[in-house]
Amino acid sequence: MSTDQTERAESLPSVPSIDDPRPQPPLTEHFNPGTATDPDVGARETSSLTVDGEEVSVGEEATIIDALEEVGADEDLSALCYYDREDTDRIGPRSECRTCMVETDEHGLVPSCSFPAEEGLTVRTDSTEAEEARSVNLDLVLSDHNLRCTTCGKNGRCELQDAAIEADVEVPRYGVFDDRDEYEPIDESSPFIQIDRNKCILCNRCVEACNDVQVEGVLRIEGSGPDTRIGFQNGADEMMDSTCVSCGHCATVCPTGSLVEQDYTDAATIPLPGFTQENSIGKTIGEDYDGQPNPATPMKGNQTYEDDALGEANDD
Ligand code: SF4
Ligand code: SF4
Ligand code: FES
Repeated sequence: MSTDQTERAESLPSVPSIDDPRPQPPLTEHFNPGTATDPDVGARETSSLTVDGEEVSVGEEATIIDALEEVGADEDLSALCYYDREDTDRIGPRSECRTCMVETDEHGLVPSCSFPAEEGLTVRTDSTEAEEARSVNLDLVLSDHNLRCTTCGKNGRCELQDAAIEADVEVPRYGVFDDRDEYEPIDESSPFIQIDRNKCILCNRCVEACNDVQVEGVLRIEGSGPDTRIGFQNGADEMMDSTCVSCGHCATVCPTGSLVEQDYTDAATIPLPGFTQENSIGKTIGEDYDGQPNPATPMKGNQTYEDDALGEANDD
């Protein structure tokens, strides 16, 4: 390179070479792609903004949804992939579902769960565009779900059901899972948790709960396109062959009936004798796990069911 060229190159703007100041999440390098490590998306400093004409101040790291919560404007938003409970701020936001869209004067439509609460922002939850975006996106989420609420163990405590009722959804414009495709067999292999992927909306909450909160590294989102699904990091086909320790956190945070505690799986809520989630959907898979001696799956700790059962029998 000539002296002229070197001088010209040095005078051009370039990205400075500095260390990434963001804290590195623990254990990330051991997790496979598809697991959760959320970027820091909140505001860098305290800010004041306007929500539906009302002024509100929020602290560092706040996103727009925090400002909405301050003024009670979040009640119109379902925010299905965002889980905000005490001590669980490591779950989301993932910006997967877009049911939390709001309109801003400055940036147009943005997902409120993951957009920083910038100083001076003017936010509208009630603009036509924002309401339409939330409605379309909720229907898109519903199109990934089978809506068999009356035979679902989560009936009455399901966030997707609440969202659909609050949004007055009568007929989802893109249909529901029942309209289109074949059912995936229900995974009932675990003594504690049932997985019904026909109800999964791929919100990623369970993956984060398992990997980032419990640090168990069991779940992942795998596949692509219409074949995207919840799977296991050890490549197991069923939960019983995964490394799950049956802590139940994934079922706690699941906003649908996709992950349900086994005690609730047959909690049919319409008064038809013998009509349960299993027989309304059809085929199920799984083994008889009566006598399962260990709350963790056999794969955890390289134990086998037979080894444990034998050990217990010998102790008697
Ligand atoms: S129950 Fe199993 S899969 Fe669910 S969060 Fe706990 S370890 Fe992970
Ligand atoms: S199983 Fe539940 S928590 Fe996990 S991605 Fe599906 S809907 Fe979300
Ligand atoms: S809650 Fe904001 S994108 Fe899902």
